[in-house]
Amino acid sequence: MLLIVWLALTYLVAAFPFGLWIGLACAGVDPRQAGSRNTGATNVARLCGTKCGVAVLVLDLLKGFLPVVLGAAFSNSWIFLSLVGLTALLGHMRSVFLYGRGGKGVATTIGVFLAYAPLAALLAVAVCVLVIKRTGYVSAGSLALAASLPVALLATGNPAYIPVSLVVAAWIAWRHRENISRLLAGEEKSWRKAS
Ligand code: G3P
Repeated sequence: MLLIVWLALTYLVAAFPFGLWIGLACAGVDPRQAGSRNTGATNVARLCGTKCGVAVLVLDLLKGFLPVVLGAAFSNSWIFLSLVGLTALLGHMRSVFLYGRGGKGVATTIGVFLAYAPLAALLAVAVCVLVIKRTGYVSAGSLALAASLPVALLATGNPAYIPVSLVVAAWIAWRHRENISRLLAGEEKSWRKAS
């Protein structure tokens, strides 16, 4: 029962639309109406400045990190903790406060995997940063991060979280399907360009 209550709480907290709230509070901008129309850190940075984007990044990351770390106090089972991570992503990507809409899940994924396996998560973040630096596209870095997570988990001796990482990689790729089309067409926006 306690575990189910924890999953419900995780969903609710992860559904907090920090990108929307910070966009409105910092610059009076609704990120759903401008730029890529995503409520994530990249679009908020694009529309409202780097500081606002970083604030969204940190808060969205914590939505994944804290439920897993605190949930481990109830059960250390990798199955339960995998469910907590997926529930956090569900809350973030399908927020009840945004009528089922939400972000693309990258910051929350980083938080979840920092809690599961910090070294693997940091390796995936390093891959992400390298790809962003080379291409100029956050979406390309996000996709590289998602794809490298299973490999990083294997390389760092954390095979228990490979199944959830595969689900997350597929989910993130699906959420980025419009970015993928734009990348393939050479029409993707740099994080700096709002239009
Ligand atoms: O994490 C989201 C990022 O990968 C893409 O954001 O706003 O360019 O679609 P955006």
